[in-house]
Amino acid sequence: MLFSGRRLITALLGVASCLLISPATAFTNPIRRPGGSDPQMIYSDGYYYFLSTSWSNVQIARATTIDGLKTATRKTVYSSTEASRCCNVWAPETHYLDGAWYIYFTAGNSKNLDGQNLHVLKGGATPWDDFTYVGQLSNEWSIDGTIIQFDKWGTYLASSCFHEVQYQSLCMQKLGDDNVSLKGNNSVISQPLESWEQSRTPVNEGPYALYMEEIGKTYIVYSANDCWTPEYCLATLEWDGKTDPTSAAAWKKSSGCVFQGGVNGHYGTGHNSIVRSPDGSQIWNVYHATDNVNGSCNDSRYTMVQVVGKNPDGSPNFGTPVAFDYNSAEPS
Ligand SMILES: *[C@@H]1O[C@H](CO)[C@@H](O)[C@H](O)[C@H]1NC(C)=O
Ligand SMILES: *[C@@H]1O[C@H](CO)[C@@H](O)[C@H](O)[C@H]1NC(C)=O
Ligand SMILES: *[C@@H]1O[C@H](CO)[C@@H](O)[C@H](O)[C@H]1NC(C)=O
Ligand SMILES: *[C@@H]1O[C@H](CO)[C@@H](O)[C@H](O)[C@H]1NC(C)=O
Repeated sequence: MLFSGRRLITALLGVASCLLISPATAFTNPIRRPGGSDPQMIYSDGYYYFLSTSWSNVQIARATTIDGLKTATRKTVYSSTEASRCCNVWAPETHYLDGAWYIYFTAGNSKNLDGQNLHVLKGGATPWDDFTYVGQLSNEWSIDGTIIQFDKWGTYLASSCFHEVQYQSLCMQKLGDDNVSLKGNNSVISQPLESWEQSRTPVNEGPYALYMEEIGKTYIVYSANDCWTPEYCLATLEWDGKTDPTSAAAWKKSSGCVFQGGVNGHYGTGHNSIVRSPDGSQIWNVYHATDNVNGSCNDSRYTMVQVVGKNPDGSPNFGTPVAFDYNSAEPS
């Protein structure tokens, strides 16, 4: 069919105005599938950055909207042929510490998971600058390293470890002044001793800071249970605001999971990161889930992003996992 001149111009104007008035203002989940396990998303200076791994490298992607992350180009910032850290690369996270971005990640050998340890890369003034391998951070089996800042106490590394305990637990240790080493004692702050943390194998892992300045509280959101079960879920530890954060007594555990699957076809909802909206008013939960009713810890995991609500007392209300067809407005 041929357009007359006028109709063609009208049609083109229609397309143009449509493009002008519809930037990406909403998104649906998942954000990443496959390759969506242990997701970390951060926001900095106009961009959302998404860190991921193919299990032999660390990748970073960025976009100005969450929807844009789905198709954003990925840059590989780490891979190695060094046998002790070539493989089983997990849970990369980037953190900004006084002028530079760092990436803390887990890596080990190709034979088994006994050599899993934490390593660090140092970058530049933005997360899009080049990263250089600095070295191994931990000197005992540890995974899922993350950085947490405490008022009056300073900067710490939280991780998942077996430090003189039977079960995979959460540990806390002070970060060295160079931000690429550890100092002081490593100590266990949370063990999976509650029945709701013991599906298949008792596990605590995937810690991430949730700072709620609004109510003056610092939480750790972590994952409980074996990731090969549908019960893999998120729970919280609340800091008392004054005691040494390496002391287990400083932390109060939630009375059960605060976010779990079995809703909208999502199972094993866990290993999250937390990001503030650009204007600071909203908190977003970035987590992985699987559609396998038995739970799964493989590449069937996809990344979901959804807003966190607040309880009447101001504490976080994680809600339930949203359906794939749920339209979320982009963060405010
Ligand atoms: C490490 O990070 C802290 C902020 O937590 C900062 O004060 C310090 O200067 C950083 N150290 C280096 C060597 O950049
Ligand atoms: C480290 O642990 C030892 C033994 O429990 C203790 O004596 C020492 O004070 C601790 N050091 C720090 C810096 O907390
Ligand atoms: C879940 O486990 C049951 C019992 O082992 C099995 O029959 C079923 O096929 C499994 N489903 C999936 C999706 O793996
Ligand atoms: C993940 O594991 C399940 C069994 O638990 C298997 O059925 C599925 O094909 C695997 N998926 C991927 C993407 O590896």
